[in-house]
Amino acid sequence: MAVDDPRFLHSRPQDPASPDQPGDGYRRDVQQVFPLPAGDDVDPVAVYHDVERPAPAGRPWVLVNMVASVDRATDVDGLSGPLGGDADRRLLGVVRGLADVVLVGAGTVRAEGYRPPLTPAAAVGGRRATRGQAVRPRLAVVSGSADLDPSAALFADQDPDDPAPFVYTSAGVAPDRLTGLSGVAEVVVADGVLDVVEVVADLHDRGVGTLLCEGGPGLVAQLASAGLVDELCLSVSPLIVGGGAGLLAGAPLPTPMSLRLTHVLTADGFLFCRYLAR
Ligand SMILES: NC(=O)c1ccc[n+]([C@@H]2O[C@H](COP(=O)([O-])OP(=O)(O)OC[C@H]3O[C@@H](n4cnc5c(N)ncnc54)[C@H](OP(=O)(O)O)[C@@H]3O)[C@@H](O)[C@H]2O)c1
Repeated sequence: MAVDDPRFLHSRPQDPASPDQPGDGYRRDVQQVFPLPAGDDVDPVAVYHDVERPAPAGRPWVLVNMVASVDRATDVDGLSGPLGGDADRRLLGVVRGLADVVLVGAGTVRAEGYRPPLTPAAAVGGRRATRGQAVRPRLAVVSGSADLDPSAALFADQDPDDPAPFVYTSAGVAPDRLTGLSGVAEVVVADGVLDVVEVVADLHDRGVGTLLCEGGPGLVAQLASAGLVDELCLSVSPLIVGGGAGLLAGAPLPTPMSLRLTHVLTADGFLFCRYLAR
């Protein structure tokens, strides 16, 4: 099939280069990222941490970290764990180490049995200290229902030196739920229906400069719809899962979000892609 065959091009704009000059027409701007010639391993801590993340005016830098299968599934039987592996967990630790606060939806907390972030290894911990960040990121859970178990690991495994996790909830929640959580969390009740824009603004007012959202797809969709995603760290798992879910739940975005790829790392068959919003 020729390069200008309509069946090959589908509906994409035709490459202006002449197919008679394949060196120009095919190779322009193409780089191989894997496999590369044998060389030293890269330091993912340096790749992720030693870049600027300037907080936009009035809000933190918002970074989303998700793992998805090649066919964009974000869970297997309701859990993200089967998509991951050792390499993915290590990168998760590197990316978590960037955050002042880790923001997560209550659906994910309940499904995954979320726990507080662990103390990072020295390479990340040293950078956190240099940046003036706490030893560990603080958690913030978004839950309109406040249907969270106060005895869950999320609260019970909290380091006593750390501030309690935030729980953002809506007005009108059953008072007994708020009472149960108030001893283990810093509960923030919205005036009415909870809006992620207000959650992000509130965290900014509390001094949060780097906010990491770890999902789930419902929460990520709200952040993206509000234009609040600055960076996406996507781990592509070498799996095909099937099913319909993707990185963002719900309706399509009002306008597609344009991204700029800044790096791709690979380990153990995973791709670790970092994108910035344009
Ligand atoms: N692959 C990955 O990287 C990854 C990451 C995270 C999660 N996951 C998977 O995603 C699934 C869960 O995702 P999900 O989309 O169902 O859940 P989610 O986004 O984690 O949480 C949805 C819940 O968060 C609360 N919430 C979100 N926005 C709210 C708002 N504006 N106001 C009030 N409450 C709000 C609500 O909690 P209430 O019901 O308490 O009101 C809602 O039911 C799980 O299977 C998990 O394994 C995958």
